[in-house]
Amino acid sequence: MHFVGFAEMAAAVSNAGGLGIITGLTQKTPADLANEIAKCRDMTDKPFGVNLTFLPVVNAPDYAGMVKAIIEGGVKVVETAGNNPVQVLPPLHDAGIKVIHKCTSVRHSLKAQAIGCDAISVDGFECGGHPGEDDIPNFILLPRAADELEIPFVASGGMADGRSLVAALALGAEGMNMGTRFIATKEAPVHEKVKQALLAASELDTRLVMRPLRNTERVLTNSAVERLLEKEKALGASITFADIAEEVAGVYPRIMLDGDMDAGAWSCGMVAGLIHDIPTCKDLIDRIMAEADAIINSRLSGFANG
Ligand SMILES: Cc1cc2nc3c(=O)[nH]c(=O)nc-3n(C[C@H](O)[C@H](O)[C@H](O)COP(=O)(O)O)c2cc1C
Repeated sequence: MHFVGFAEMAAAVSNAGGLGIITGLTQKTPADLANEIAKCRDMTDKPFGVNLTFLPVVNAPDYAGMVKAIIEGGVKVVETAGNNPVQVLPPLHDAGIKVIHKCTSVRHSLKAQAIGCDAISVDGFECGGHPGEDDIPNFILLPRAADELEIPFVASGGMADGRSLVAALALGAEGMNMGTRFIATKEAPVHEKVKQALLAASELDTRLVMRPLRNTERVLTNSAVERLLEKEKALGASITFADIAEEVAGVYPRIMLDGDMDAGAWSCGMVAGLIHDIPTCKDLIDRIMAEADAIINSRLSGFANG
């Protein structure tokens, strides 16, 4: 998660029993990423991963350099997202690194499987960030993925608690990926105002922006987002990235680090409606596992036994 997935976040999740992920592109250069990986290694002896996102950007980042930093940093899992990750698969696989590609559709998941990805993170329409253009929620997308995929997948988008985990397993996933929920934790290295905004938000408070550019992003509404949507309405099909740069370009540090909550559009899932506290990552994951255990062994076993 851009300007959230620093070493502190990844290490806290991994120390709590999850797989923490450093956001590669939040680091400006491969050398910065190498430092962040080394920092994370100092903070946890558990495995953690790195996300590499391939989105339309003006100046393409040095992906080859980032891959080198990941390999030399001894990272064992990479989460790719956005465009086809085929260019990075050979060096990552040669280094023994598993690649999980995040997909918002069954056809992209099948493509990722065909080019050799090891697993998929199936990201439903509910998700914070980029849900793609098909608008299929996880109640449909996950079982569709289960019907078609041969490689394992985790459920992503809208996941918050033990109910999410049991549902994800029931729908065919091997586990779940959480984005927005982890921002409202004690260790998340973001401004307190960001966490409070998630507590205050309901499931009605996200908006889809950049749909006319076919780069749809689910964000938390604020004055900048409402202005952006007005521009989209007024400019219609003639809109370009330049028209909305003020609301989307370079806004993350101002929001996540400075707490300037109206600086621009920032990714947030509908799951905000299920976030009511700011636990430690360990308390959150322990609670999820206890809830899942109770659902399976009380509620569902009662159902199974009549
Ligand atoms: C603030 C924020 C920033 C994100 N940045 C990225 C990113 O840089 N790359 C990426 O692949 N996904 C990014 N995501 C998406 C998450 O990795 C994850 O797929 C998504 O949050 C799952 O949906 P959920 O928020 O409902 O849990 C971001 C999500 C949020 C909330």
